[in-house]
Amino acid sequence: MPPRAAAGLLSTGDMAGAVTRYFAGAAHARPWHVETATDWARADANRLTEGQRSAVEFITVIEDHLPGYFALYTENFPVDGSVDPELYEHNRALYHFTVRWAAEEDTHARALARYQAASGLRDEAAVRTALIEPGQARFELPFDHPVQFFAYALVQEKATQIYYQQLRAVAGDPVLGELLTRLSRDEARHFTFMADVVTAYLRTHGDDVLDPIRAVIAEFRMPLADTLRGYWRWALKIADAARYDHTDAYEHLVKVLNRAVDAPGERLGELITFVESCRSI
Ligand SMILES: [Fe+2]
Ligand SMILES: [Fe+2]
Repeated sequence: MPPRAAAGLLSTGDMAGAVTRYFAGAAHARPWHVETATDWARADANRLTEGQRSAVEFITVIEDHLPGYFALYTENFPVDGSVDPELYEHNRALYHFTVRWAAEEDTHARALARYQAASGLRDEAAVRTALIEPGQARFELPFDHPVQFFAYALVQEKATQIYYQQLRAVAGDPVLGELLTRLSRDEARHFTFMADVVTAYLRTHGDDVLDPIRAVIAEFRMPLADTLRGYWRWALKIADAARYDHTDAYEHLVKVLNRAVDAPGERLGELITFVESCRSI
């Protein structure tokens, strides 16, 4: 997205409204800290299957890529003198969310790394070393419309929430289960923000955002899918622990699309049909 252009953007008032609603919801969510989230001494990787151990390593890599995700939002919504004052105002409102979101995702990364070390999966230094290469991998979202950054994250947050819930259901170690409960609740709140923003885009920009949203779904890749060495082999390996399928999130996107406007037009109907057709069976 050209960082200087405000074309197609949500108004600052609408963005600020979504951010305020996010914080209102977050105020009611139970806050948690890695240090006190669980009794770490009880963590035991020997209670996990091979697939579950691999799944823990996988989600640690994905969560630990936080600096890369955060950069995408600061690069595409700059909060400095490179943009017009009007765009700065919008981006600054969004940044209140982005920085909080980043802090929560970084907590997920720390919690999972701590779990690996505490459970005996790897020692602390080895956990850090294993995260260097995927952490340095470049993750790109080649979008040209602002709504795409929110539609993408909407799917990704919901897909992650669903995956954590499925993994929790089979996790052999209760400590891992407790962590996954906390993580999935956070992802659910993140999804809510993204859904709120996408809804506002649909209400204010109508049909203009339909093609951009369609493009997100047509080209959807999970984070790092194209840059992480062995990603697909890994994804396959963890599939027997729990199904990681981003199209599980599509029914939730369809709900957002259906509820956004009172009288959905023909083109919105076509987009909904398209999203539904992309779901795996
Ligand atoms: Fe997360
Ligand atoms: Fe999240």
